[in-house]
Amino acid sequence: MAELIVGLDVKEKSILERIVDNLGDSVIYYKIGAIPFTAFGPGVIGWLKHSGKKVFFDLKFFDIPNTVELAVECACGMGVDLLTVHILGGKNMLESAIKARNKVNLETKIVGVTVLTSFTETDLIAVGINETIEKQILHLAEIGYRCGLDGIVCSPQDLNLLRKKFPDSFLMVCPGIRPESSHDDQKRIATPSEAVKSGADYLVIGRPIIQSPNPVEVVKRIKKEIKENERSY
Ligand code: C5P
Repeated sequence: MAELIVGLDVKEKSILERIVDNLGDSVIYYKIGAIPFTAFGPGVIGWLKHSGKKVFFDLKFFDIPNTVELAVECACGMGVDLLTVHILGGKNMLESAIKARNKVNLETKIVGVTVLTSFTETDLIAVGINETIEKQILHLAEIGYRCGLDGIVCSPQDLNLLRKKFPDSFLMVCPGIRPESSHDDQKRIATPSEAVKSGADYLVIGRPIIQSPNPVEVVKRIKKEIKENERSY
């Protein structure tokens, strides 16, 4: 069944702790990305793991192979369950990341970022990539698959296309999920039901939950939607 990952994109520790305490057993998986990791350091990962939670470490590594290899070793050493690298970093970088994981912690899964969910075709062209979003995502997903990544991060809107090309075991992690009408800076979005029906393995949701006056209720609704729309393969 698809799993919910709550993005802890906050810079005040008391708020982060309050969200996790409030959500209690209803949420097992949390995302620690650039905001909380820069604000609080690795201690926040230790705290979550110690509280019995799973951690998606989303620092989107994109650097020379040696740097990524050592950074992935450190991340795997902290016991994170899922981590991200940018597929644009290329074959050597991806293989270095996998080598580091295999050395330190085989339990950590590595997924590759394709095209950010805040990107449109115009944004792609503006950075010199003259491809349609679909072509660019397929191209990057193919590289990630061939290099041996466990899966990719993609928009829920791209799932239908991607699920036709890759086996079910290739994990699809989807941010850009909006239960209500707000988009924030996310452009290529879908509802939890749409994402689950199209084959998402993980739904990464931040602001719609953490900025809600009632996060517990929002999580309850999302989990219900996940359960009701689960795809049978
Ligand atoms: O608040 P929101 O639900 O938009 O949070 C989505 C999270 O997923 C953010 O932390 C963002 O950094 C992350 N993410 C994303 N697009 C990607 C990869 C990760 O939005 N392609």
